[in-house]
Amino acid sequence: MAKLSFLSMGMILFLCCCSAAAAARTAPAGQGYSKYKDPGQPVNARIRDLMQRMTLQEKIGQMTQLDRASVTPEILRDYSIGSVLSGGGSVPFPKAKARDWIDMVNSYQNGSLSSRLGIPIIYGIDAVHGHNNVYQATIFPHNVGLGATRDPDLVKRIGAATALEVRATGINYVFAPCIAVCRDPRWGRCYESYSEDPSVVQSMTSIISGLQGEIPAGGRKGAPYLGGNDKVLACAKHYVGDGGTARGINENNTVADWHEMLSIHMPGYYKAIIEGVSTIMVSYSSWNGVKMHANRFLVTDFLKNTLKFRGFVISDWEGIDKITTPADANYTYSVQMGIGAGIDMVMVPYNHTVFIDTLTRLVKADVIPMSRIDDAIERILRVKFMTGLFEKPLGDQTFLSQLGSQEHRDLAREAVRKSLVLLKNGHKADPPVLPLAKNASKILVAGTHANNLGYQCGGWTITWQGGSGNNLTSGTTILGAISKAVDLDTEVVFSENPDPDFVRSHNFSYAIVVVGELPYAETAGDSTNLTLAEPGGDIIQKVCGAVKCVVVVVSGRPVTIEPRVDQMDALVAAWLPGSQGEGVADVLFGDYGFTGKLPRTWFKTVDQLPMNVGDPHYDPLFPFGFGLTTEPTGGQ
Ligand code: GLC
Repeated sequence: MAKLSFLSMGMILFLCCCSAAAAARTAPAGQGYSKYKDPGQPVNARIRDLMQRMTLQEKIGQMTQLDRASVTPEILRDYSIGSVLSGGGSVPFPKAKARDWIDMVNSYQNGSLSSRLGIPIIYGIDAVHGHNNVYQATIFPHNVGLGATRDPDLVKRIGAATALEVRATGINYVFAPCIAVCRDPRWGRCYESYSEDPSVVQSMTSIISGLQGEIPAGGRKGAPYLGGNDKVLACAKHYVGDGGTARGINENNTVADWHEMLSIHMPGYYKAIIEGVSTIMVSYSSWNGVKMHANRFLVTDFLKNTLKFRGFVISDWEGIDKITTPADANYTYSVQMGIGAGIDMVMVPYNHTVFIDTLTRLVKADVIPMSRIDDAIERILRVKFMTGLFEKPLGDQTFLSQLGSQEHRDLAREAVRKSLVLLKNGHKADPPVLPLAKNASKILVAGTHANNLGYQCGGWTITWQGGSGNNLTSGTTILGAISKAVDLDTEVVFSENPDPDFVRSHNFSYAIVVVGELPYAETAGDSTNLTLAEPGGDIIQKVCGAVKCVVVVVSGRPVTIEPRVDQMDALVAAWLPGSQGEGVADVLFGDYGFTGKLPRTWFKTVDQLPMNVGDPHYDPLFPFGFGLTTEPTGGQ
């Protein structure tokens, strides 16, 4: 009997398990099993199951992205908001640590998970040269410097390192890379562009595989991809032609025929889609007078239907509002045109109720068809299911040690070395000046940018516009790197703006003069004269008139330097090197050779602009691709 009873108990237990599983699979919604929550189901089945459960308000909520400063977990819960972002400088509090970021992101995520359907948010941030909003993150060279390296593998490794630092803070989505093709250096965002040459920009989309992970062999090219919880969703931006506006005026009009658009501004997007980029951000700019945020032909007909982009399209910050001039002149019209053009998610980013109510009205009035909303939701959910967030929605401390790690700083130092471009090395008949001797008895370091970490990082660093000084974040200034590189008994004298008598009286072996541009971002960086920040020009004249000098220019783009070149013994373009100034010393003192090549034409005067490689009247100071080389000497 006992034996029988044992078997029957086992059978009962087995039958209970089967029936419970069967019940879960067939239980009506809301009572246990939900197909969309089952990771064993195909993504398309999960998308279909979830979409049929969603109300119109929940769908429109998923199309809404809000800045962290404008939301609470309750808003995320009640409106089923799709995404939260940190705009430039939007941090939990100044100098917040990784744990603080994780706690903040998780508090928002828990709000979303407590919504009716529990759809997790994705949290976006501009990690455009490392995790640059975050205190003590590794700050890599800005894109213009990476373009000078001509090294797609390096850039891919930078993407992987950046993904780890972003994940260290519990974030899973970055608004990078910017694949603009800057055609006029007067544009305030030219340093966010890898090059004026579309083929260089195209090669640098390798960063997407670093950020998101490599699509595995046999994987579907062109479909959005995310390769694990050490990777982040990427965003190719700003679609399309952002770098081609008239006179480089930010957010202005790009006048170009279809061939120019396809051959200059579009190639980066072909490659980004092949790399599996998950999202694409629309540009504020216009093409031949039509706002990109309202351009159905380019966003839907071409990007979605011709290029078969299957991720989601996101607006820029208040990009919908700026469809009209002035912005917000007719918000209903703006929402109708933006969503109608094919934008799937809107970076509102403040007033969610106005956006949600406006779009709801347009759908209910059948001005915006439900099919457009469903296209947006299918794309957003496809990306979200792919991230694994439904299974593992909360950030944890797995990658905490990655933020600002020495390994990443060494990688940034390598990138700095490879990004520097040697433009002059001694006067014509004279012997080369570089590499410099480490065992000189006394050297002078001068200039506004020698001892300023904020200046060498540039815009989009800790704050939107970047900042000044050595307390902004962690890193090594160029002065600090020089002091570490030279021999112990070499005296290093620093004077930011010395007078010639001082220079002459000290019998310096040589001087290193570090000057450049002050930090800026977006429209604040638009310039008509592209001059060095004062008193950079005077410092060059005074110091180089008194002693042998190497001038290092820290700038986001070529600047007006031609009148001073004859005064210099050597000239180096350092771009915006970021936190690891050691990379500058590495090549100045010969531990490594100079290898960088100009990613942009260096003009003589601004009235030549725009002037790009291949133009008929091409008369640069230094041409695109120019860069002198030196052999490593081991820094003797
Ligand atoms: C900005 C920029 C865009 C950035 C976004 C979020 O205005 O145009 O590049 O990703 O807003 O910060």
